[in-house]
Amino acid sequence: MRNPDLNRLKPYPFEQLAALLADARPPKDLRAIPLSIGEPQHPPPEFVLSALKKHLNLIAKYPTTKGTSELRAAAAAWATTRFALECHPLDSETNLLPVNGTREAIFAAVQATCDRSKGGTVIMPNPFYQIYEGAALMAGLEPHYLPIDSNGQPDYRGVSDSDWANCQFCFICTPGNPTGTTLNQDILIELIKKANEFNFWLASDECYSEIYRDEPPCGLLQAAIASGQTDYKQCIVFHSLSKRSNLPGLRSGFVAGDASFISDFLKFRTYHGCSMSMAVQAASQLAWRDEEHVCANRVLYAEKFKEANVVLGDILDVRDPGAGFYLWIKTPTACDIFSRDLYEKTGVTVLPGQYLGREINGLNPGAGFVRIALVAEPKIFREALERIRVFVMSRPWD
Ligand SMILES: Cc1ncc(COP(=O)(O)O)c(C=O)c1O
Repeated sequence: MRNPDLNRLKPYPFEQLAALLADARPPKDLRAIPLSIGEPQHPPPEFVLSALKKHLNLIAKYPTTKGTSELRAAAAAWATTRFALECHPLDSETNLLPVNGTREAIFAAVQATCDRSKGGTVIMPNPFYQIYEGAALMAGLEPHYLPIDSNGQPDYRGVSDSDWANCQFCFICTPGNPTGTTLNQDILIELIKKANEFNFWLASDECYSEIYRDEPPCGLLQAAIASGQTDYKQCIVFHSLSKRSNLPGLRSGFVAGDASFISDFLKFRTYHGCSMSMAVQAASQLAWRDEEHVCANRVLYAEKFKEANVVLGDILDVRDPGAGFYLWIKTPTACDIFSRDLYEKTGVTVLPGQYLGREINGLNPGAGFVRIALVAEPKIFREALERIRVFVMSRPWD
């Protein structure tokens, strides 16, 4: 016996990358520099690591699914301040739950909320974070892919009312992965109105929200308040310590928004059995209460975007999207060939954009781009840029 929906899941982008590079031989004398995976390499905050050690004895206890009131209060206070929700502050009892990283929560949220007997779609950007698609497929729904335009986000205004009516769940990603572009308050408000009118869940994946250059990006809950809502109806946001605080291995984030979603999700999670270790909760609570390390982290990324422009700006289109930590660059040849050759000649790994997208009507909007994660330590990153420059300059591309 096997769940037939498992057959619908597509190979993960990193599996495709491993296959592409399987028999490629990078230079032996150069260290490998992986810029393919979005795993932060800046050091995690010491005070979080100390708290984790200090509270290790708490692993002797079963954690509750709902999490400690201290953690929920810290996360709710952070989101309330960051997104200017003071007039209708998030209630840490009813509007928020801790999750073990947003990946599992993004997947589980669709399973918990959607009605497979009705059918319909999960709307998502294309290219996208692949968990959105897997969540739709495992919930027995159809992914509805919206291609990104030249601004790096889908044209949500072009979605027809009949498509909204057929939608049970819509993922937006702001700042986006892979493009780093953000959705402004006006479009977020329009999306909230559609969600309320057509009764679908609007879920904003905001795990890159704290990596920005100038202005903090608007969040969905902020837009909900600006739209006149008082209860975040149909709105859900996902936040994570992985990128904000360089803690991808801690597996710590939260989901917040509509209280009716949170209460159903809590019920689902009680059976799902994915409560967060008490030691992780104690450490996470401190991370949400501190902004100093987050500002320092932002500065490092901003410097790397500047450096990428200095080293590569005259030979590649390395526009800083203003948020996130990816460069989304048009390649001078097919993106998989570019990535493989780059790896063979320089030991630098980047991710072909076509692995992050789906071909619809003959067009994969990720094809012809690579995603470069600006995650390496500054010195190593500089070395990677120099190697990419030499590689691009040495090729007769036309
Ligand atoms: C767009 C996006 N959403 C969610 C996640 C999941 O992050 P985590 O599970 O570490 O919170 C990632 C991780 O790379 C991501 O890129």
